[in-house]
Amino acid sequence: MKPVLRLLAPFFLCIALVANAQIGGTSSPDQGVASTTGLVVSTSALASDAGASILRKGGNAVDAAVATAFALAVTHPTAGNIGGGGFMIVRRPSGKTAAFDYREKAPLKSTPGMYLDAGGAINRRLTAEGYLAPGVPGTVRGLALAHKKFGKLRWNEVLAPAVQLAEEGFLMSRSLANGLNQQLKGAMGRYPSSVEAYGKPGGGQWAEGDRIVLKDLARSLRAIADDGPDAFYKGWIADRIAEDMQANGGLITRKDLAAYKAKERKVVTGRFRGYEIISMPPPSSGGTALIEMLNILENFDLKKSGRYSAETLHIMVEAMRRAYLDRARHLGDPDFTKIPVARLTSKDYARGLAANILPDRASSSVELGKDIVTAVADDESEETTHFSVLDRDGMAVANTFTLEAGYGSKVVVKGAGFLLNNEMGDFNKKPGETNTGGDIGTSANLIAPGKRMLSSMTPVIVTRNGKLALITGSPGGRTIINTVLCIVLGVTEFGMNGREAVDSARLHHQWLPDNVTFEESSLPEDVSARLKLMGYNIRLQGRQGDGHTIYIDPQSGMAYGVNDRRSADSKASY
Ligand code: DON
Repeated sequence: MKPVLRLLAPFFLCIALVANAQIGGTSSPDQGVASTTGLVVSTSALASDAGASILRKGGNAVDAAVATAFALAVTHPTAGNIGGGGFMIVRRPSGKTAAFDYREKAPLKSTPGMYLDAGGAINRRLTAEGYLAPGVPGTVRGLALAHKKFGKLRWNEVLAPAVQLAEEGFLMSRSLANGLNQQLKGAMGRYPSSVEAYGKPGGGQWAEGDRIVLKDLARSLRAIADDGPDAFYKGWIADRIAEDMQANGGLITRKDLAAYKAKERKVVTGRFRGYEIISMPPPSSGGTALIEMLNILENFDLKKSGRYSAETLHIMVEAMRRAYLDRARHLGDPDFTKIPVARLTSKDYARGLAANILPDRASSSVELGKDIVTAVADDESEETTHFSVLDRDGMAVANTFTLEAGYGSKVVVKGAGFLLNNEMGDFNKKPGETNTGGDIGTSANLIAPGKRMLSSMTPVIVTRNGKLALITGSPGGRTIINTVLCIVLGVTEFGMNGREAVDSARLHHQWLPDNVTFEESSLPEDVSARLKLMGYNIRLQGRQGDGHTIYIDPQSGMAYGVNDRRSADSKASY
């Protein structure tokens, strides 16, 4: 900072605090952004601001969530979307809850072996990109369903900030410019419609501060705002999707789009140390696995052992291993398969699982799951975004949605300006083969027409004695459930505030492959050495997840917006 600015900094800070106080919030680096008038916390500052503008207009948390989601479809194209799907958990001030399932579905022409080559191997290229990779998008129907049920402001009012961002354009962050440059050189560069939508006009590389205008996306958003979700599922946008699919060997038809319905489901709930955990039921594995892990962990005194002791990490990994094995065994679309959610989330069941954890030895994943492991394989090589919203009346929303990989299938619908997901890869692609590399072949999650693929997305709301305590969630594929576990445990077991819980280093184990991954620098040498002695195969990685969170201080009742500082463009807005 220049010396003159350094001298003036306290003065500017005072003005900022006074200004903030007038509209309901203040910012503290240790705790997050405090507000009594509501908060929106997301991975994109522009999208958080869009959501907060709806709160200031008198919209409730669902209005703000819908506005934030559509804005993310503009400002955060790697995961924000109208061509993908996701889940939303709502808790009303009365304590009543709802779960909205807008997960993508397999097209009616899909078949269980559609991603296998002639030799029976999974052709991962087909689920990684291109026209065979997308499931039927659910986002627009899902957001419309949530808005119809709970929204206060008019639909087109709620979509207005997103339409404006796309029509007038916005200034790119460094991470968006870099991400798009990389994509346009790589996979997105292979699809002319994607280059047309996201390439820099006149050619060349995007740079931080460049204005990007998304004119076809703006037209699509304006049609959805003016004519409702049918513009997407039955109108000209549906025509564009179906024509593009037909011209390029894809499976999604007008019939698929017209038939798509979002669903309201009953939340899955659990209890942990006096807190109530409210999360997403199948077709997400998130809520069920999270509650199963917490139930196992309740049998141990982790607090006494310490957050990063070898004992605590060992027990956490063993809980992860067992819950992810059950995920592989049992979970899929509940409209197609009977899933034993009540048993998997029961305290009795967890006690049994806890009882066979050895105090100082890693279990063997293959041994525990020998009834379903059929082959040995190399490790599977491996965006989603979560945001949290709270309004002044205490209505809470946790929403996680995705295109699956960053920029999904890399395919932009010609003339409609949005990216399609590559969610079909979340199905079990090779019937019967569950291997040590992480592929799962059990029946609950095999491909079938109209079926939803299993997800790990874990939007969660935590309460205590009927009062809100935490709203959180994360991206990260199968790591999501463990990222959320780490944040929830931080608050409920280790007494951290929201900022501490979000900043804390995370770990991941998903049953198979049998490796435990820690965020770099989180693991003291001696702890690592002890874990290795117990038999763990340890890996380090840059960062795990992106958990934009709202934390409510139990003493003061103050709500704090805690953006995850792992992502550069994130913000808590009010
Ligand atoms: O639904 C799921 O579990 C995955 N498709 C989410 C993908 C994801 O989080 C990728 N992001 N980093």
